[in-house]
Order: sequence, then structure tokens, then C-alpha cells
Amino acid sequence: MARKIIIDCDPGIDDAAALCMALFAESLDVVAVTAVEGNVTCDCANTNLQTIIEQLDPPKIPRLGMASPNKSSNYRPATHIHGMDGLGDAGLAKVTHHHSHPSEKILLDEIRSHPGEISILCLGPLTNIARVLKRDPDISTSIREVIMMGGSVSAGGNITPTAEFNMYCDPHSAAQVFESDIPKTLVPLDVTQRIGLTLDFLDNLPGEWDRRGALLRKILPSLYRAYHNELGQESINLHDAVAVLWVLMPDLFESTVMAGKVETTGEHTRGATIFDRRNQRQWHRNVEVVIDVDVNAAIGAMQRILNK
Ligand code: BDR
Ligand code: CA
Repeated sequence: MARKIIIDCDPGIDDAAALCMALFAESLDVVAVTAVEGNVTCDCANTNLQTIIEQLDPPKIPRLGMASPNKSSNYRPATHIHGMDGLGDAGLAKVTHHHSHPSEKILLDEIRSHPGEISILCLGPLTNIARVLKRDPDISTSIREVIMMGGSVSAGGNITPTAEFNMYCDPHSAAQVFESDIPKTLVPLDVTQRIGLTLDFLDNLPGEWDRRGALLRKILPSLYRAYHNELGQESINLHDAVAVLWVLMPDLFESTVMAGKVETTGEHTRGATIFDRRNQRQWHRNVEVVIDVDVNAAIGAMQRILNK
């Protein structure tokens, strides 16, 4: 039976690529996709999510949840990477439906309807998961697992010297999720940054006739430009798509269970993920962390999945 999953995302170009992989995977039953503020404002995240779903028109349309502002976050839009509209300013026809429910309501509804069955894949700040825990503190035992793209073990940060973007945007929510008793997996920068996708990746995507090919061929070129101009890189990292690959093909990766927390206050370390790796560890192990990947096999697998 296909694994029931909710994808919580802040689209974002790599979030869109992740959806291209997940929404067409036969082994996944994507029951809902929920938006969160992160790469873009909540209004923009909501529009982008609906636009992506409309463009992809996947075999099964998931329920959609809408983001709302997070006043306590350290949110700053990542327009330098994802473009002013979050999707590479590629001129996509934007779609906005009305009468949609808040993300946390969709998450709560689905978890309660399928206790113990739902995996939540978090591709943005952890705001919505913390809201779910606040609204129903007992819900944690009904969530099968949370898989989070974010954080860093030894790779440093990407938005500050110490913090990864998703953790930095809302460190208080991230800290709450780390402290919760939900089974957790972290897919950190240590693996996602190792998967550098050169222009070959773009060339090998399906053609315009394919809905995923049509979308990715429109939005990825601006990501190559941003990585070149802003980061001095000739390849791109699709962090969120790597997290989907972990869900689909964990054998390509290595993971270990670690004791981790999220820094919420440090002047230079806000949003950093900290791990107790002392011989005489005092924190309890609370998160499975993906620490290694077969890079070539992973790139080949992403390419195949997008062409299937
Ligand atoms: C994460 O930050 C966002 O900009 C990306 O979409 C990804 O989720 C990488 O640090
Ligand atoms: Ca993201």
C-alpha cells in the first residue's frame, strides 16, 4: 500500500522540484500539501502552491492547506535565490482559489483521520508543525514521523555562517519540533549540498510535452543563474528534492541517530542545529540524521524519477 504523506512546503523552486517527484510517485499517497511562509511571504506561498498543482495536474489532487503570517519568525524572503515571485519570475500564470483551509487545520484533520499512518515531509520552516502541536499537544503520538529538510551537522549554514535557512526562519518552532516525541528524521545541508546538479540535469529533464518537464524547464534556469551570480556555483542544489529522494530511496543514503537541538537565541547561532557528539553524551538521542549519500547514484535516481 502506498505510504500516506503530507508535504509541508514554502514554494520555492526546489520545493516545486520536490513536488514534481513526490506527486507522481506510485509508492506515495500524497494526501495533502500545505503551505508555510519561508522562501516567500505566506500569500505568495499560497499562490505558488496552487499554481504548481494546477501546472502539474497530478494523477491524484491532494488537499491543499494555506499559510498564514508568522509574526514571531525571523522570516526573510529568499528572493535572491528563488526570484521575486519565488518561482524564478518565469511568468507562470498564477492561480488563486478561495475557500481554502489553513495548513494546520488540514494537517490536524488528516492526522486524526489516519492516526499513526501519516508521514509529514517538511520542506520549509517548521511553523505549521509547531502550531499543530500547540493546538493539540497529544497529537504527537498519532503522527507516524516527521521528515525535515534543514539544519546542518558539519556543513555550516547557508543563510548565516551557522544556520540553515529553514531552521533560521522560525527557530522557536524548529526547537519545539526537535523536543517533541514525534519520530523525526533530518535531511541536512551535509547531504543536500553534496548533490550538485550541473546543466546536464536540465538537459535530461522530460520535454515540454511532459507537465513536470514544462514546469521545471521554465523555473530551473533562473536557479542556475542565481547560484552562479549569488553563490559562485556552476551547479544547483535542489535541497527539497533530495529530501523526497530520501523518502523514496533511503538505500542511497546513510543515517545515524543523534541527539540534536535548535538554538533559538544566539547572536551568531540563532537557528543553528547543535548535536551532542561528546563521548559522554548528556542529551538524549532524538533524531535520525541523514549523514551520507551516494552522490552519482542519487543524481541518476532523481533524473529517472522525473522521467518516469
Ligand atoms: C532550504 O531553504 C529553502 O530556501 C529551500 O527551499 C530549502 O527548503 C535549503 O536551506
Ligand atoms: Ca523549501
